[in-house]
Amino acid sequence: MKKRIVLYKRLSDTLMARLQQQVDVTWVDTAGPDGLARLRDALPGAQGLLGASLRLDSGLLDLAPQLEVVASVSVGVDNYDIADLTRRGVMLTNTPDVLTETTADTGFALILASARRVVELAGWVRDGQWQANLGPAHFGTDVHGKTLGIIGMGRIGEALARRGAAGFGMRVLYHSPRAKPAVEARYDARHCSLDDLLQQADFVCLTVPLSAATEGLIGARELALMKPEAMLVNIARGRVVDEAALIEALREKRIRGAGLDVFVQEPLPSDSPLLQLDNVVATPHIGSATHDTREAMARCAVDNLLSALAGERPANLVNPTAGR
Ligand code: DGY
Repeated sequence: MKKRIVLYKRLSDTLMARLQQQVDVTWVDTAGPDGLARLRDALPGAQGLLGASLRLDSGLLDLAPQLEVVASVSVGVDNYDIADLTRRGVMLTNTPDVLTETTADTGFALILASARRVVELAGWVRDGQWQANLGPAHFGTDVHGKTLGIIGMGRIGEALARRGAAGFGMRVLYHSPRAKPAVEARYDARHCSLDDLLQQADFVCLTVPLSAATEGLIGARELALMKPEAMLVNIARGRVVDEAALIEALREKRIRGAGLDVFVQEPLPSDSPLLQLDNVVATPHIGSATHDTREAMARCAVDNLLSALAGERPANLVNPTAGR
């Protein structure tokens, strides 16, 4: 008999067909006020879950006692209580690697857009305000030759370092729990303390996973250490930054600007003070959001799910001690 899975993220026809050959699929649309109730109804009897962007709490997991695997279509696993899943013997898988380059592209898009004021000035042109030659009031900041400070030197951090060093001739500083000699050799990067990085970088880029150790990592004290002309770029998770402190720093121009792809609350409420600030470029969590990469992520999640349900060890197992 086929195993049953609950799918809460839309898949391409190709992937859906592949999944349906192997397992019984219950599709649940979790959007809207009744979304969670629909998920609750579908969970009993499910052996697999495949989706993203949903906090799977113990109340939901209690409804699926036969669950063997949760295949997340994301690299970040902050939506899951890993210890609880492991205790229950439920494997958790994610989708690293396939999104690395795309997410680093997003980081660089935010660096360039913030430094060169692309969004602000494109809006200015659209509003018909380009009536004369530009003056210093509309000038931006160079990116090439500046100092790139990367907080978190995982795969995405390294892809950013490569872009900065090879593409823009930037000096690369990074902060991570351990030094990475190979990265240092490749990009002439220097491992430093968080405070040193904040004091020296022109662009401070956050790429750390969200965890108890990184929640609120950048608060008022850290923002105060940044140079007044520096910019903060966040492609990690909103909660890595104290958003209220960031709004204050941006309002008072204690730092020059921010490029933000992630927020404490997503979708970002339309009345967020961040949206009132000219020195903020805000994008709707598009880190990995290209057709190619999202399809690759979904394919990776389907592979992980099917191998777990077949009794194999999935390639991207986050909690190896849960594997049976
Ligand atoms: C991830 O994969 O964790 C990304 O944030 C989703 O785009």
